[in-house]
Formats: sequence, C-alpha cells, structure tokens
Amino acid sequence: MRGSFLKAVGFTIAIIGLFTYISIYVSGLSGTDGGEVGGGIDPETGEKLYWGDGQCSTCHKIGNQGSSTRGPDQENLYVRAEERAKARGLSSATEYLVESMVDPSAYIVEGYGDIMPKAYEPPIILEKDQILAILLYLQSLGGEPNIAEVSKYKDKIPTASRKKVKPWVPPVVVDAKVGEDIFFSETHAASCSKCHVVKGKGAKIGPDLDSIGAIQTPEYLMEAILNPSVQIVKGYETVYIITTDGIPYSGIIKNQNESEIVLAVDEGGVIEDVTIHRDEIEDMKQQEISMMPGNLNELLSVKDFYGVVNYLLTLK
Ligand code: HEC
Ligand code: HEC
Repeated sequence: MRGSFLKAVGFTIAIIGLFTYISIYVSGLSGTDGGEVGGGIDPETGEKLYWGDGQCSTCHKIGNQGSSTRGPDQENLYVRAEERAKARGLSSATEYLVESMVDPSAYIVEGYGDIMPKAYEPPIILEKDQILAILLYLQSLGGEPNIAEVSKYKDKIPTASRKKVKPWVPPVVVDAKVGEDIFFSETHAASCSKCHVVKGKGAKIGPDLDSIGAIQTPEYLMEAILNPSVQIVKGYETVYIITTDGIPYSGIIKNQNESEIVLAVDEGGVIEDVTIHRDEIEDMKQQEISMMPGNLNELLSVKDFYGVVNYLLTLK
C-alpha cells in the first residue's frame, strides 16, 4: 500500500519535471529565421506537404483518398469553412482555415478530440511558406486557391526553426528497446500490441501507431497513456451494448452489417470478439471512457513508462 503510494508520488514528480522541461523546449523554438523552404507557395506544393512531411493525412482523409479517422474528412472543406466562418463571426472561410492551423484548439469540430498539433511546432515543424502553400491547397478543396487572400494572414502564422529543436530527453535514463519489448510483449500486463499495430504487428483495436512520433509531442503521448479518456480518438470510441437478455458488453466495434455487430471486448486483459445480433440489442450507446486501460501508471514502472514513450517517439 505504502510502497505503491510512494511509487505514485515519485511518478508524479517525474512527470511534473518533464512538463517543465517540455515547455522550455517548445518556447525555445520561436524565432524568426525561416530556414530553407522546399517548393513554392502554390497549391501543388501544399498538396505534396499535406500527403507528406506536413503529416495531415496521418489524421485526415479527403473523400476516398486516405483512410485515417482521427480528424474530419476534408472533402469540400472550403464549403464547410465558409459556413463555420459565418457561424463564428469570422470574416472569411480563409480566416477559418488559418485559425484551424494556427490555433487548432480555438474551435473543435463536434465529435472530435482536441488532438490536432500545431504544424509549426515539433514534431512537424513546417515553415511559414509551407503553411501558406497548404492553405492554398485547402482552399482548392471545394473552392479556388487565392494567393492574395492567403497572404493577408502571413503575419498570423508563427515561424519555428528546425535548427533549434533539441531532442527530447526523459528525466530518467531509458532504453527504447525496453519500451519496444513492453509494447510487443505477450506476457506483460501493459502490453500495447494487443490493441495497437506498429509495422504490421499487433491487433487493430485502437489507432495504428506507425507515425505517432511524427505527429505528436512527448507531452501528448504521456497524457494519452496516463489519462486515455481525456481525448478519445475519433473512430475508436467505446460502445456499450445491453442485450435483451440483460447482458452488458463494452467494447469497440470491429465490424458490423445489417444483422450483427462484432464487438472487441476486454475480458480481464484478453481481447475477445463477441458477435451480437442486432435483434438481441436492447440498448446501445457511446461511452465517454476509453477502452485503453486506465491504470497503466500502476502497470508500468517509471522507467518502463519513459521507455515506452521513448519508443513511441521513434515511430516516424
Ligand atoms: C493528430 C491528428 C491531426 C493532424 C496531424 C492534423 N489534424 Fe487537422 N484536425 C484534427 C482533428 C481531430 C480535427 C477536428 C478537431 C478540431 O477542430 O481541432 C482537425 C481539424 C482540422 C481542420 C478544421 C476542419 C473542419 O472541418 O472544420 C482543418 C482545416 C485541419 N484540421 C487541417 C489540417 C492540416 C492542413 C494538417 C496538416 C498540416 C492537419 N490538419 C493535421 C487532427 C489532425
Ligand atoms: C485494451 C486495448 C488497449 C491497450 C492495451 C492499449 N491501448 Fe492505447 N488506445 C486504445 C484505444 C481504443 C485508443 C483510442 C481511444 C483513445 O483515444 O483513448 C487508444 C489510444 C492510444 C493513443 C493515442 C493514439 C492517437 O492516435 O492519438 C496512444 C498514444 C496509445 N493508445 C498508446 C498506448 C500504449 C503505449 C499502450 C501500452 C502501454 C496502449 N496504448 C495500450 C486501446 C488500447
């Protein structure tokens, strides 16, 4: 009892130490040297960045291009941006698009988590001109690219510099290999691969984590592991079903058709598929809690925790 309390205190201190470190690491980035820029300020360059270094497609799809559900489908984005701009009192669709990139948390599309990173900060770190090119590409999704309009917001886009980014250093000495072993372990209580796929290995219950280190900060990853229910990634919500026989199930929908639903449920640490016929469902609703275990801080030692975070950061 006492031991685990002390462990929890030590853990909290280690985390606070780390948060302090991160804020220094991020605030140290704002500078004015733009650095070298690949491509020009045009929608074609924006498109390449969207599907490449900008990492947008790791979270967004556009119609039938791409498959990620983390963020909204951006087919006809410009048309929606016009409506949102009106509803929110912004001057134009372009202003809404700029705001979405500069301050993603200013407005959260209903049903989604507040998980979109600032593309001008680590780990993505796009230059100002690259963000302008992406904005032109976003305008082309249902509208016309308009460089004069986009250029009006040039000064609103912060500049970061790759040259100033220091690698993340965990507060305790860790070995990414230890993190990788826990991730794929078949025996460790905190095994991640029973729900996550990396490099084709693991089960598809939660989001695939192949590029997670390219889109999120150490801070986000720590929060995602310690408090999984704070932000629930779209498409991976926990569903609660009670059958007409009064049996409750809680899990993630893996498959469904008109007659049945296949739910992945956690049976004391083992993930199993349960097939439920639709005519046996008494009630079904979405839950506010993540299916990811809420006690990973107890299942992982401080060292193992940072080992796992360190491993996730290598996934780019
Ligand atoms: C980690 C996942 C993630 C990444 C990476 C990401 N986004 Fe997003 N984005 C989201 C989510 C989630 C939302 C919805 C929640 C919100 O409004 O912030 C969103 C919302 C948006 C919106 C508003 C959409 C609307 O329908 O109103 C725009 C525009 C956008 N993203 C553009 C981009 C661009 C451009 C990039 C690449 C530079 C990008 N996003 C990268 C997750 C992401
Ligand atoms: C029982 C299944 C399960 C286990 C075990 C599990 N996760 Fe998850 N994880 C999920 C689900 C479901 C989500 C999506 C819902 C949410 O956001 O919480 C998720 C989300 C995440 C995210 C956020 C992903 C994103 O796209 O933003 C990270 C990071 C993550 N898990 C890491 C881990 C790590 C590391 C471990 C092992 C220490 C682990 N998970 C163990 C089910 C699991």
